[in-house]
Amino acid sequence: MYGEAQISGSSDRTAFRRAEKKYKLFKTSLGRRKSVKPVDLSEVFDFRAILESYNRDGGTPDGIVRHRCGFDLPVFGFEDRPGFYFIPGALSVEEQCHWIKESLLNFPQPPNRTNHTAIYGPIHQLFIEAQKKRVLIEADSLDVDVDSTDFDSINANANAPKWQFCEEGCEVPKAGSCRSISACSLLRKLRWSTLGLQFDWSKRNYDVSLPHNKFPESLHQLAKRMAVPAMSEKEEFRPEAAIVNYFGSGDMLGGHLDDMEADWSKPIVSMSLGCKAIFLLGGNSKEDFPVAMFLRSGDIVLMAGQARECFHGVPRIFTDEENAEISPLVSQLSRQDDLCFLDYIRTSRININIRQVF
Ligand code: OGA
Ligand code: MN
Repeated sequence: MYGEAQISGSSDRTAFRRAEKKYKLFKTSLGRRKSVKPVDLSEVFDFRAILESYNRDGGTPDGIVRHRCGFDLPVFGFEDRPGFYFIPGALSVEEQCHWIKESLLNFPQPPNRTNHTAIYGPIHQLFIEAQKKRVLIEADSLDVDVDSTDFDSINANANAPKWQFCEEGCEVPKAGSCRSISACSLLRKLRWSTLGLQFDWSKRNYDVSLPHNKFPESLHQLAKRMAVPAMSEKEEFRPEAAIVNYFGSGDMLGGHLDDMEADWSKPIVSMSLGCKAIFLLGGNSKEDFPVAMFLRSGDIVLMAGQARECFHGVPRIFTDEENAEISPLVSQLSRQDDLCFLDYIRTSRININIRQVF
């Protein structure tokens, strides 16, 4: 992904990469048994525990501040990292479920682009097709009627979707001549989708000429409300774009800067859904040693001002039952109709990252 660091044996030159390596998932296999290398979490800040102790006695640990910003929930930050705001448990479990469903059903819908768009063209209803166990099949280009001299129909054929969903085991024309992939594996490989203004990852900029929907109104309202701690009284946050990241076990987001927006004074509003993760917040250079903190479902982070210029990333998500910390979601999504969402989120994390571009 964007500026994603390759984390391999020889690449621990910077303090940021050393921290990524410390926290990333290492699987070892001893014979048939697979095990996960234990990781030392003693230096990871836990804002939920900080909130609980703050609620008991009004104090915060050394280096942690509570921002006084007239917000209706406690907002914390680091003394030496201005512009960074952490709102633990900002979203109710109902809100979390709502945004999980939106992220799976609606946000990846065309014209929004996803990591699959460049390869397969627009894919409709991916989540639903995956539930139906359907398969995406490359329409055989030999089916095009080459005798036709009607330019319109040739052009129409050229623009026709090259990939289409079929029932599993459907009869494939000219066996062997076409490629296929199951909707389930496409869903597992979904890594990002973009809302509002579309980001072109190949050029690493916002491409206003790409067709796009208006930024979703309810997400706009939520982001505006949550951005308040990082805004001056006179300003208003105008969300124009969002990137939705989907993480599975072993996925990570390498250290990067979000530097493609014109106005860096406006915050990035970032919400976490699903499995717990470790977030690293570094400095202006990858040489700066990052702080690590847990991000849980329902937490919101704001990065504004100086923090907008800081490297950050997600080296680890916890997908095992004990560490994912999603039991409220498990209870909330236990109805028959919701089990498909629960099945996905049990081993996944979703991050919605909202930006004002101009
Ligand atoms: C991003 C990002 C952080 C997260 O998408 O730019 O920094 O918590 N995401 O996933
Ligand atoms: Mn980012």
